This record gives sequence, structure tokens and C-alpha cells, in this order.
Amino acid sequence: MSLARRTFVIGGHITPFIGKKHPDFIWKGHPDYGTVTNPTLEDYIQRAVDGALSATGVPASAIEKAWVGNFVGELFSNQGHLGAAVVGTHPDLLYKPVMRVEGACASGGLAFASAVESIQAGTNVALVAGVEVQTTQSARTGGDYLARASHYARQRSIDDFTFPALFARRAKAVQELGVTEEDIGRVSVKAYANANRNPLAHMKAVSMDLQTASAAGDTNPAFLSNEELAPYMKVSDCSQVSDGGAALVVVSEEGLRALGKTPSDAVEVVSVSHATGNLWEDTDPTRLLVTAHAVGKLFADAGITADDVDVAEVHDCFTVTELLMMEAIGWGQRGQAAAWVREGRTDIGGDKPINTGGGLVGFGHPVGATGVKQIVEIWRQMKGRCGDYQLPEVPAVGLTVNMGGDDKTVVASVLRNH
Ligand code: CAA
Repeated sequence: MSLARRTFVIGGHITPFIGKKHPDFIWKGHPDYGTVTNPTLEDYIQRAVDGALSATGVPASAIEKAWVGNFVGELFSNQGHLGAAVVGTHPDLLYKPVMRVEGACASGGLAFASAVESIQAGTNVALVAGVEVQTTQSARTGGDYLARASHYARQRSIDDFTFPALFARRAKAVQELGVTEEDIGRVSVKAYANANRNPLAHMKAVSMDLQTASAAGDTNPAFLSNEELAPYMKVSDCSQVSDGGAALVVVSEEGLRALGKTPSDAVEVVSVSHATGNLWEDTDPTRLLVTAHAVGKLFADAGITADDVDVAEVHDCFTVTELLMMEAIGWGQRGQAAAWVREGRTDIGGDKPINTGGGLVGFGHPVGATGVKQIVEIWRQMKGRCGDYQLPEVPAVGLTVNMGGDDKTVVASVLRNH
């Protein structure tokens, strides 16, 4: 979508993403177990919305419409109907039009795309939230819930951990093309290193070295029971089972003026693209064809090429996904993404940094929040708000790619700094 009305993101908020291995996550070995409980879905919605309104200084009364991205609140928290839950965060949101949007792990991206479309139709100030809680169940039961984003009848039985297995199949296919386990391990090492600089990250306190990330072992098990796929997926390759929320405010030029802001407070949304694949069929495991389609259209609408992008937030649900995402966006020719990672080009100090706050592997992946978090992260990099993981040069052009399922729903955006 090229935008007929200029559209701006004026800031937002990301809650800490927490789960197992995060120091604040309450579990049976935690000293506060029994006296403190982990925040609920309701808490995360409240914290994300409060945080975004307070970070932007926008009164709730100024919000005209809102969206919330969430995948499976019904399963992990027995709670659906989250549009009305957003209204519950502030009395001045009462009677406003708010809806929940679902597209598996791209739910947050779809919420953002919906808000941007609404700005094209005349809305001036919109709120976008994303939220997920997943730690109410074991990772194994969660694996079953998340499998609802696959073709459940056909793919559920591949492994108890359906999505890790679907991406193990991709990792196997790229390794057959010559990518090594060490190449894939480097993506994990970068993710954890970036997360270690990010106080909001799920894995802020966990380190990952190349030796551990490059081979399965006691501390980094190959945990799938599918014998064919098990060698291609280790714990270090996986995004985290995280709880968290994120929210942002998106406005038209008129909205910007009415709120007393200037383009320099904001990042401009240059284009947004949404592409969808066929849930019932799989394609070449060595390519993300829906992602490539979405990004191709995105760049054409924005009038830019991959070379023009200074920083990217891509959907690294697994380490191999980051390599495939790079090739789908055109960062590295086919088969070259691993070389870019090896050369450090995607590090914070590199020329094409990816997932500077740790991505889904390091920052965490509260599914419905991820697409919203990606946009806020680009805003934060562009406004110099990333603290220890701030890029040495403030980026001018940013890209986000949020993916639902195994490359089935993709929302991508180009953002420009002012
Ligand atoms: N040796 C052998 N096996 C071990 C082990 C060890 N040392 N440690 C763990 N395991 C095995 C066990 O079988 C264990 O299961 P049980 O306890 O039920 O027997 C299993 O691994 C999981 O162990 P934990 O519960 O201790 O694992 P964890 O909580 O540390 O989680 C993880 C690790 C399973 C990799 C988890 O982080 C995970 O599932 N990550 C992926 C999350 C995911 O798939 N998200 C969706 C991404 S896909 C996407 O983004 C698109 C979309 O639309 C869905």
C-alpha cells in the first residue's frame, strides 16, 4: 500500500518480555514463588496502552480508533474479545471503535496495517496494541496451541513442537544447500548478544557462545522427537515462549498537528504491505515466497530497494528464518545470507543491522505483541532511544517484517526518519 495520506508513528511502549530464564519470571524455583504471580493478559494490555499513551503524551480521549493484535488469548488465558479489553484500560476509551485482529504470529503487524489503512480513510489518531501470554501452560502444551497457526489436521502430528519441527525442515533443506550449523549458530549468538544489552529482553541475562549454539549438547538439547528433523533444531535456535505487550500511536499529518507534534517527533510510514499464502499447501522450504512477495511490493510502493534500508526488524521465529528472511528481502543473494552474518554485517556495528534488541530469539516472542514491538523498535532506533544497543549512526530508513505461520501471513513496513 503506498499511502495517499501521510502517516506517522509518534512513539510507543514495550513492556518487558518475560518467561522462563528471565530473572523476574515467577516459577517454582523463584524466591517469590507463592507470594508474587506473573502479570496476566489483562495486566499486559493495561501496561502497553498506559505506556504508549504516556510515552507519546496523547490523552485517551484523542484516540479515534484502536486495534489489538492477539493470537490465542482464548487458549492460554481463557480470554477472547480483546477489543473490549482495550476499552477497559481507560474510561475515555469507552464507546470508541476497537477490534482485535488475528493472523497467528502476524497479529500485531495486521493490527498496525489496519490502523494505517484507517488513517488513509480519514482517521487522524489511532492506537495499536499487541499482546500475548503463553507461560500459563508448559512449552509442550503451548506447542499444541501454537500449532493452530499451521494446517493442524495435516501438520500437528509432525512433532509435539509443531512449529520448531516445521522450521527444522527448512533448516535441514538449507543445510543440504551448504549452510552449516555454525552459520545458523551465529544468528543465535547475535540475538543473545543484542538481548544482553536490552533491559526489556527475555534473554537479557542469558549468554550464548558460538560453540554452544553450533552443536546440540546437554545445555542446548535437540528437543524434537521427530527423528528425521531432531538434528536440525536446538533450544538455542528457537524464539522464546514469552509474555508481553507493546502499543504505539499512529497519526495523520492533521493528527500530528492537532497533538502539537512535528515530523521530527515521529517516523513516517512510507508503505505497508500484506501478503497471504495458502494454508493448505507448502512450498520450497529454502525460500520464504510470501515474504519475498510482500517485501517486493513494499519496496516498489515505497520507491526504494533493499540497499536503501539501514536497519531491519525481521521475524526470526527460528534462527534459520532470519537467514531466509534476509534472502527474501534482498540482503544477500540466494545462499549468501550466512556469509553476511559471518562477516558481522547484521551486527549492531555492521552496515545492515538486524534485530538490534535481540529479535524473537533474544528479545522474546509474545506472539501478538511481536509485530507492534518491531515498529516501536525502529522508532526507538531512529529517535536514539535504544541505550546500550543504540546504533552508532541513526538510521534513516527502517524495515519491519512480521510473519504468521510458516510464511503464510506477512506484514511488512518501511519507515523513514525525519
Ligand atoms: N535434554 C533432552 N531434552 C530436553 C532437555 C534436555 N536437557 N531439556 C528440555 N528437553 C525437552 C523435553 O522433552 C521437554 O519437554 P517435557 O518437559 O514436556 O518433557 C522439552 O524439551 C521442552 O523443555 P522445557 O519445557 O524445559 O523447554 P523450555 O521451556 O526451555 O522451552 C523450547 C524450550 C521448547 C524451545 C521453547 O522455547 C519453544 O517451544 N520455543 C518455540 C516457540 C514457538 O514455536 N513459537 C512460535 C514460533 S512460529 C511463528 O512465529 C509463527 C506462528 O504463526 C506460530
